[in-house]
Amino acid sequence: MFTKDSIIGVVGCGAMGSGIAQVAATAGHKTIVYDSNAAALERARTQLEESLAKLVGKQKISAEKASEISKLIVFTGALADLKVSKLVIEAIVENIEVKQSVFRQLESVVTEHCVLASNTSSLSITSIASACSRPERVLGIHFFNPATLMPLVEIIPGIATDMVIANHCQALVNSFGKVTVMAKDTPGFIVNRVARPFYSEALRIYEEQLADMATIDWAMRELGGFKMGPFELMDLIGHDVNYIVTETVWKQFYYDPRFKPSLSQKRLLEAGFLGRKSGRGFYDYREGADQPKPLKDEALGKYILNRILCMLINEACDTLYLGIASATDIDLAMTKGVNYPKGLLAWADEIGLAQVLVSLNALYDEYGEDRYRACVKLKQLVKQGKLFY
Ligand code: NAI
Repeated sequence: MFTKDSIIGVVGCGAMGSGIAQVAATAGHKTIVYDSNAAALERARTQLEESLAKLVGKQKISAEKASEISKLIVFTGALADLKVSKLVIEAIVENIEVKQSVFRQLESVVTEHCVLASNTSSLSITSIASACSRPERVLGIHFFNPATLMPLVEIIPGIATDMVIANHCQALVNSFGKVTVMAKDTPGFIVNRVARPFYSEALRIYEEQLADMATIDWAMRELGGFKMGPFELMDLIGHDVNYIVTETVWKQFYYDPRFKPSLSQKRLLEAGFLGRKSGRGFYDYREGADQPKPLKDEALGKYILNRILCMLINEACDTLYLGIASATDIDLAMTKGVNYPKGLLAWADEIGLAQVLVSLNALYDEYGEDRYRACVKLKQLVKQGKLFY
């Protein structure tokens, strides 16, 4: 369906659209980038040249390759220029009405063989596709930020998507050098769903004053092997982004208490303490500010790691149980999309599923909250003496 000559269209040249265009052009595809904002187009053009120059400087690519990539990307302010595309990836503002309207316009421009994809993180692909007269050619192709560096891409067929088209898109994105996983069209897809407890359970422990943030971060980094602790990571992502993702996933799951957002994080957002980018978040990044020191209490650290990890495993298990994705895709998604040290299901096998279930049941007994209910699949596997792999 796709060849090296297939032209890729990108709608929106913000953080994601520009990165996606660079990825497609680096793989040798002519790429046409459309944005309705002339200033954004100009900015993207400049940033592309800077990004390519940096890669040449670091000797990641040759000057010839950089010039080749640059020539393959065409920026335009006319949507009609996308008509030669074989695939159009939309990366505009995260708003369902605006996206539906753009998809309707796209259908009137492109050929009948063109595939239409959205890079949305939180909207329903099925709902975006419902605006189209041919929803079978619409799917989600979800890159991570920054698209040029993050290896993972989630492929999300909607209810009406033709699976043959979805499979061809997966092969195309694989040919870009990315690692792809297939996920059902459900809130947060794989990564943004399974990762929620990394933040929310850490926030819960913090709010209950069982440990301070520096100690929680230390435990996850030093004892768990995660690259960053939950609080440093939330500060890096920005609370405007991280809180909104949590709230959106929670609402879309009909307010399931397992996804409930945290008031402490909401207050930071209200105060404009967005994290690193605003100089203050959970931590204070202003010059000379005191940095809290972790307690480095081994027993407390193990409790923190075990509690957060078991909640993550439970979410991964539910994602498998509900057929959102395969076990290998869930593990790949978390190691390649958010750099977890191990796949969560493989990690669960290593710990012992009975042990994970004991920990979850202990939390459930202590709190009496539905949030801590163990996944049915986990209970079944323990009963049968089986593992995930
Ligand atoms: P952004 O705000 O950096 O860029 C959006 C671009 O779309 C802007 O240049 C804007 O001028 C353009 N635009 C808006 N409405 C338009 C329209 N009707 N027609 C043409 N162009 C239009 O946004 P960002 O961060 O690149 O996100 C884009 C999409 O990717 C969103 O759906 C977002 O949820 C998703 N996403 C974002 C990630 C992130 O970390 N920023 C990660 C993965 C997905």
